[in-house]
Amino acid sequence: MLPKRCFFGLYSQPLSMNKKKIVTIIGARPQFIKAAPLSKAIAAHPDLEEVIIHTGQHFDENMSAVFFNEMGIPEPRYKLAINSLNHGAMTGRMLEEIEKILMQEQPYCVLVYGDTNSTLAGALAAKKHHIKVAQVEAGLRSFNMKMPEEVNRILTDRISDWLFCPSDAAIQNLQQEAYDSLPCKVVRTGDIMCDALMFFTPYAPSKSKIVDLCSYENYALCTIHRAENTDDAERLKNIVEALNVIHQTLPVVVPLHPRTQKIMAGLGLEIHFKTLPPVGYLDMLGLLENCKIVLCDSGGLQKEAYLKEKYCITLRDETEWIELVNLGVNKLVGADKNDIINTFLFLQNQPFNAAPGLYGDGSAAFHIANELAE
Ligand code: UD1
Ligand code: UDP
Repeated sequence: MLPKRCFFGLYSQPLSMNKKKIVTIIGARPQFIKAAPLSKAIAAHPDLEEVIIHTGQHFDENMSAVFFNEMGIPEPRYKLAINSLNHGAMTGRMLEEIEKILMQEQPYCVLVYGDTNSTLAGALAAKKHHIKVAQVEAGLRSFNMKMPEEVNRILTDRISDWLFCPSDAAIQNLQQEAYDSLPCKVVRTGDIMCDALMFFTPYAPSKSKIVDLCSYENYALCTIHRAENTDDAERLKNIVEALNVIHQTLPVVVPLHPRTQKIMAGLGLEIHFKTLPPVGYLDMLGLLENCKIVLCDSGGLQKEAYLKEKYCITLRDETEWIELVNLGVNKLVGADKNDIINTFLFLQNQPFNAAPGLYGDGSAAFHIANELAE
């Protein structure tokens, strides 16, 4: 278990009038993981203080509370419980509620992460009140405007005052969109998820209980939740059939996002691989450490696979983490059954041999906190 006292000790400083107040907006699983190292860096900075708003976008215990408990994320001052709505309704209701809180809290800056509806709602609420916006994970592009995330990130980037970029590709994307000529600050910080992985790896048992539970010595780790896969019955069916076939060669372990779980059940798909409820971050690190290969449509997991030196088969037609594809450690296969199986068969015994360091040295949070304090 984590030494909780050490985390909570850091967070226990009272809010002070002299510090710059940052309101952090989080709501979805990857945002809790990204917030963990930065909340720690903010708490440790003498000139900063943080108030957290949890939009409630993710709400199950294993999609939300587990991350706060395991990763020592400070308790949100506001919990909005806005979830399970269409995009407009969800973003609109968040915007309305976040605005009320910002008018009351009057922060110096609003901190948002990534590309979810919570991100866009937080950025919009702040900008309309002339509150500075800091976007962690700026500059990423899939160039697929049908993805809700692409719309969210383009709009959020455009109204952000600080754009903290995780990769060179992110910087280049912003250059191509002429961000040099906009009144904002673009900073290459490295990837905050790399910070989280480096910080928490020592706390994840090298063989966590979840790995024992799976009872496999060797397995492929897979996650699926992207709308383009879950909301397209044909794509989802192809992916499931490919995983069923791969499972005959190498066991496939899938911690299932609740969205995917509900849709798969509704479609009555035949599943031969091992499914699990969503797992906490430390269990996920354990599963990653011990797996042979990763298959996913997740943004975060693509990078974590590289950081843990595993090949990743990406079940999407494009990726924002293009440097992984260029390095040859990430294969974009989409949702074609044969492509997924053949790519797996080719990669399963290939030695992983790629240069480390694409996403920084784990100090992104430190640099972001210093920028915000300047
Ligand atoms: C959201 C983000 C996506 C991100 C993903 C991380 C948007 C548009 N999408 O997608 O970018 O990659 O989070 O996981 O913001 N549900 C539960 N329990 C939960 C959470 C979700 O049952 O704790 C179910 C609900 O039925 C909900 C559905 O999952 O309607 C989808 O959740 P939602 O937050 O809308 O989208 P995600 O697919 O999670
Ligand atoms: N993750 C987790 N438990 C799970 C599945 C994923 O802790 O059951 C972690 C994963 O290791 C990564 C993050 O959640 O750190 C990625 O979130 P997700 O795939 O939901 O969203 P995305 O990155 O695609 O936006």
